Amino acid sequence: MVGVKLVFGFLVLLCLFTEARLCYAAGRNRFSGSRKEVEVLKHLNRVNKRPVKSIKSPDGDIIDCVRISHQPAFDHPFLKNHTIKLMPNWITNDDIKVPSSSSENNEAITQLWHSNGKCPTGTIPVRRTKKEDVLRASSVKTYGKKSFSASVKPNSIDPDMFNQNGHQHAIAYAQGQFYGAKATMNVWKPKIDQSNEFSLSQIWILGGSFASDLNSIEAGWQVSPDLYGDNNTRLFIYWTSDAYEATGCYNLLCSGFIQINNEIAIGGSISPISQFHGSQYDITILIWKDPEEGNWWMQFGNGKVLGYWPATLFSHLTRSASMIEWGGEVINTASDGRHTTTQMGSGQFPEQGFSKASYFKNIQIVDESNNLRAPKDLETFSEQPNCYDVQTRSNRNWGTHFYYGGPGRNPKCP
Ligand SMILES: *[C@@H]1O[C@H](CO)[C@@H](O)[C@H](O)[C@H]1NC(C)=O
Ligand SMILES: *[C@@H]1O[C@H](CO)[C@@H](O)[C@H](O)[C@H]1NC(C)=O
Repeated sequence: MVGVKLVFGFLVLLCLFTEARLCYAAGRNRFSGSRKEVEVLKHLNRVNKRPVKSIKSPDGDIIDCVRISHQPAFDHPFLKNHTIKLMPNWITNDDIKVPSSSSENNEAITQLWHSNGKCPTGTIPVRRTKKEDVLRASSVKTYGKKSFSASVKPNSIDPDMFNQNGHQHAIAYAQGQFYGAKATMNVWKPKIDQSNEFSLSQIWILGGSFASDLNSIEAGWQVSPDLYGDNNTRLFIYWTSDAYEATGCYNLLCSGFIQINNEIAIGGSISPISQFHGSQYDITILIWKDPEEGNWWMQFGNGKVLGYWPATLFSHLTRSASMIEWGGEVINTASDGRHTTTQMGSGQFPEQGFSKASYFKNIQIVDESNNLRAPKDLETFSEQPNCYDVQTRSNRNWGTHFYYGGPGRNPKCP
């Protein structure tokens, strides 16, 4: 106590002898700092639900096993009286009605926290949000949200725009009337140049206009130091119903997605990761619209139904999607006036091919008769192919597929 008083007295003396402006600034910062702290604690209180059990993951995460009915989704005003659906209505093709089976090749992909425990039936694993996670965001409001115009309308890019907002893509896309999409993508650990940049690979299910009311459902893997506090590759989901303005968020960081699966933590690290010129590991994601209830479901791997986005969250997507995109996105902050060295995918260009470049394979859409099939016209788009590129291919084993990615800054992308 005496020490505190002495320090305070010293500060007052210092202020008497220095510029008043500086002292005011120091006082104000202290004030806004503590107000932010209260806001952060309130936010944590809202988003972290009381767990039945907690599991410490080797990567530093805490995985809370939260009762299904206590998950963040039910804070949403539209979902107050929602009855949880425990099984979707399937799409027509038989080949996706597979229950989990140990013979599937991507059983090898798992999550790090599995080595330290399991969540009991009736609960879901939720990555606990820590104080420092929220403090890394510019504000409590922006934590867990993508910045504006994170989706890209291919071939309508104003060259001045993409330099400003810094999102760079290398994607394949299909336009039409769709009720779902599926693909298998290999998993990498791209290097991130600046902590406020990210690199991700995902599927986008899009409806509406890109300007203001875009509906988007997204899922894939990402490395995002700002969001997670590390450089691990993590499974993520995202949704918005107003072009990333007020609605939506990553993972379960706001109410929206309803999880029913007790094995997979959304936002949890995935491993192992593909090795350059070595073993390749991939994940399969299927997102489809329940033909009867209209909810959008997500399946991870073969047979793990993670949960669903209720139809009530959306406007355009309550009918169908008008575009599907598959591919990579990075943020280029061009912090020193040059292009970032943040990698997309494996950090290699598509020409490198298998075991070096990153891929999406067995690309499919769900059509109006509720069948999974290859898209008729798959086009590609990249803002700066010299930085990150994409190349489609097709063969019997891999169906419709493409390689994509790149190193970012290089002699052709200064
Ligand atoms: C939920 O149910 C209550 C009681 O039946 C009702 O008053 C309320 O309007 C319902 N809320 C929604 C969002 O449907
Ligand atoms: C992530 O990797 C970058 C180098 O790419 C490194 O500078 C940074 O410290 C790492 N961040 C964390 C949180 O480990």
